[in-house]
Amino acid sequence: MNVEISTPTTELVQRLSATPRGARLARRLTGTALATWGYPYDGDLSHTAQLVVAELAANAVTHGRVPGRDFELRLRLLPEKGTLRIEVSDARGDRALRFLDGRSEDENGRGLVVVQVLAKLWGVTERDVGKTVWVELALGGGRRGADAEPHGAAK
Ligand SMILES: Nc1ncnc2c1ncn2[C@@H]1O[C@H](COP(=O)(O)OP(=O)(O)OP(=O)(O)O)[C@@H](O)[C@H]1O
Ligand SMILES: [Mg+2]
Repeated sequence: MNVEISTPTTELVQRLSATPRGARLARRLTGTALATWGYPYDGDLSHTAQLVVAELAANAVTHGRVPGRDFELRLRLLPEKGTLRIEVSDARGDRALRFLDGRSEDENGRGLVVVQVLAKLWGVTERDVGKTVWVELALGGGRRGADAEPHGAAK
């Protein structure tokens, strides 16, 4: 007998305007989606994911912006891999991201350094139009209901 058990939807895909408002919305959507999937808004995973999305979205709307084109946020919870995959796609085709080390005297150029420190894996993938900057975060603990001791459990 072949039995297929599908997992509930744990993916969010959203196109957003390439503006500061769109970038703020990307961050808020991330917190909301994770809370829906059982990771509280004020938990470690949500904080980290919101920070990463804020940095990548800020980059998409400043460095990756093409007038008249949106950017796209995609989140995928991959429990079998123990990761949350974050993808931010923009319309600019250049892949040459500049990575500065933390000792730079520059005021800018730290966003991707922070992302690198937080990420389990990350990279940039070309698309037909533009590129995707992706980051995988370790899920760790913290899922409401998954690690918590049942209320009233006998010691
Ligand atoms: N989506 C993107 N498209 C094109 N270039 C990018 C993109 N993201 C980053 N870059 C390039 O990589 C550089 C480093 O990005 P990073 O986020 O570390 O610094 P920043 O955005 O310049 O400043 P900060 O994030 O500290 O405010 C950018 O200055 C830009 O040249
Ligand atoms: Mg930046």
